Amino acid sequence: MRITLGVTGGVAAYKAAELARRLQQEGFSVQVVMTRSAREFIAPLTFAALTGEKVITDLFAAPSGGPANLDSAIEHIAVAQRTDLLLVAPATADTLAKFARGLADDFLSTLYLAAAAPVVVAPAMNVNMWRHPATQENIAMLRARGVRIVEPGEGYLACGMTGAGRLAEIDEILAAVREALQLKRDLAGETLLVTAGPTCEDLDPVRYLTNRSSGRMGYAVAEAAARRGARVILISGPTALAAPEGVERVSVRTAEEMHRAVLEKFPACTAAVFAAAVADYRPVEKLPQKMKRNKAPLTIALEPTPDILADLARQKGQRVLVGFAAETEHVAENARKKLAAKNADLIVANDVSAPGAGFDLDTNIVTLYARDARENALPQMSKFEVAQRILDEVLRLRATPRLVPAARRSQA
Ligand code: PMT
Repeated sequence: MRITLGVTGGVAAYKAAELARRLQQEGFSVQVVMTRSAREFIAPLTFAALTGEKVITDLFAAPSGGPANLDSAIEHIAVAQRTDLLLVAPATADTLAKFARGLADDFLSTLYLAAAAPVVVAPAMNVNMWRHPATQENIAMLRARGVRIVEPGEGYLACGMTGAGRLAEIDEILAAVREALQLKRDLAGETLLVTAGPTCEDLDPVRYLTNRSSGRMGYAVAEAAARRGARVILISGPTALAAPEGVERVSVRTAEEMHRAVLEKFPACTAAVFAAAVADYRPVEKLPQKMKRNKAPLTIALEPTPDILADLARQKGQRVLVGFAAETEHVAENARKKLAAKNADLIVANDVSAPGAGFDLDTNIVTLYARDARENALPQMSKFEVAQRILDEVLRLRATPRLVPAARRSQA
């Protein structure tokens, strides 16, 4: 999900840097918009470095010395359309007044009018400014329009006075964001099994066959599901990633071990997402000692590993099973074949040769192929966002009755 963080000019502007970081840790992508006076307190570069995105500072940003830029002039519409939530922290009295009265003379106030997304504001200012009837009237107007106000805290203020006006604690602001987004707990009661990462198939004590999977895709699914209230069992091949909070991780090395762990945990789960890049072949023989170098060409005999997804699909009952298809050609055709061949309910196909997609990246580009023939090509997005879309589809498929093929119906 995408949050636009508006930073306005107050001493608390520096706290917005920590806020941007925490939002990202929660899995949001963050676009920062700064007002002119905010830039007197903190440099845009700080936010650009933290978020990895260009910081928007002007309504008519022009190349230095050049004419006003038209693309920039309509950028607020594009940003408004991409925003899932507008958060302004700290919000000055001036910004609150502009929002309340509908003034649109800079990027942030224009964006506020253009955005249909929920709005959260966290005011911070001098105690007298906060208590002033003009500010309180603006606050009341915004509240009446559905804007969420995270009330400032009491304490010692930068101006030397004591009272209400301190920017609310970051945890409080984050709680308001979650509440405004009605962050779903729609997987409460579900137990999701997720496989992730590569497997390693040993040839001898020092060599093995593996692939480029980092585990990020599967871990993103596990993390998103846990946040949405599911109990999550993550069966992971070797990766450098930490287990997401609240997720039960079972670490495995080989396809055989992953198969065993999945078989053991499968009865408890209500849905499963197979994001692991399981080796399709393993050496027939694992040598007990390191293989010696030899001048002659070497042929290594390989045998297929168990197809974990296909095996589990035979005993899936009412569970929703999601498989991936890592392809480099004929993506749609191969994905549809895998949907049928593996008896999956959903195949998430990625062209792992496309820039921005596949192995060892934070983003992916996938198309979802569902058992009811619904197909959904998603644009490039973070793996966390892809994970959310997969989980939405899992819920949809759980609520959609499975069609029993005519042949099986007549046997029943
Ligand atoms: O881990 P990352 O670096 O984030 O990269 C993400 C990813 C590219 C690994 C991921 O997006 C992905 O595509 N995962 C599936 C990789 C894969 O093995 O695809 P496949 O088309 O070969 O297999 C099809 C499905 O069968 C997959 O769900 C796979 O988990 C499953 N399978 C495959 C072989 C096997 N022996 N057992 C299986 O269960």
